[in-house]
Amino acid sequence: MLLKVLGTAAGGGVPQWNCACRGCAGARAHPERRRRHASLAVEAAPGRWYVINATPDIADQIERCPALHPRPGTDPRRTPLAGVVLTDAELDHTLGLARLREAERFEVIAADPVRDAVRDRQGLGELLAPYADVTWRRLPLPGSPAGPGVAGGPDSPDEPLTPGSTVHVGAVPVSGKHPRYAASAPQPTSPGASWVVALRLTDRATGRTLVYAPALGAWPDALQAAVAEADCVIVDGTFWDDEEPRATGCSDRTATAMGHLPITGPNGTARRLAGLPGRRLYTHLNNTNPLVDPDAPQHKELIRLGIEVAADGTEIVL
Ligand code: MLT
Ligand code: MN
Ligand code: ZN
Repeated sequence: MLLKVLGTAAGGGVPQWNCACRGCAGARAHPERRRRHASLAVEAAPGRWYVINATPDIADQIERCPALHPRPGTDPRRTPLAGVVLTDAELDHTLGLARLREAERFEVIAADPVRDAVRDRQGLGELLAPYADVTWRRLPLPGSPAGPGVAGGPDSPDEPLTPGSTVHVGAVPVSGKHPRYAASAPQPTSPGASWVVALRLTDRATGRTLVYAPALGAWPDALQAAVAEADCVIVDGTFWDDEEPRATGCSDRTATAMGHLPITGPNGTARRLAGLPGRRLYTHLNNTNPLVDPDAPQHKELIRLGIEVAADGTEIVL
């Protein structure tokens, strides 16, 4: 299984257009520190790719990743990009869907509440229909009913990303955190529906598994079980500590209240990751996170725990 990290920043990116914090100013002074919005591409079959989340940077991210370029030939608009899998409905993970309107067709694979928010609340269903043939596919979740082409059921929640692919996708519900634009949407009650999920990608040809979770407001037991079995996990590294959003003035809420477990502290993710057997990386770094400075002493703490900070362009082969 071939994976390309297309971006590693939280909403706004690094630098963020309206911000002059240390991290943003540092990235302006040192362009190599720039981070695009968090996204990951996975090859489902030779020349057929999916991106996990569609960020506002998606076209730029595609240009920077030759595997995602269209090939000259009889149909010059033929793109290797087959679709998008969504972990949640946040704007930084979905604004890029509109940017894909030039495509002839693409799939969006999402849990029911996420699909409803994006397709119906954001209005992307009506907006995109005159431009591109968009297939809205249900992300299989434990307990979700089977549908056309969907395995469903508690025991077989994964399905091939594309027919015939050995790469299977499944999801672990993480939290019910709504995007702010969907604050009035009801909490889903049906089994298997979730606003925020961790994705599990398994290559049945090699038996190897990746867990990708750029938004972790909680660490449920099912997530612990999934990461304990994974060969590689890439998770939410938005904030270094719980007070960071308040201390830096970017919010009046703690990291946890914003839907992001911090890296450090009693409920931090670092202590959970430290005990895992596979490769472990952080992504979705906010521009206030000291880790956006490569010289920050905090990097040494992660190295000691065997945890990496993903860089834009990191390639992972599983
Ligand atoms: C988040 O990760 O919490 C969201 O992207 C926040 C936002 O951009 O509003
Ligand atoms: Mn975000
Ligand atoms: Zn900033």
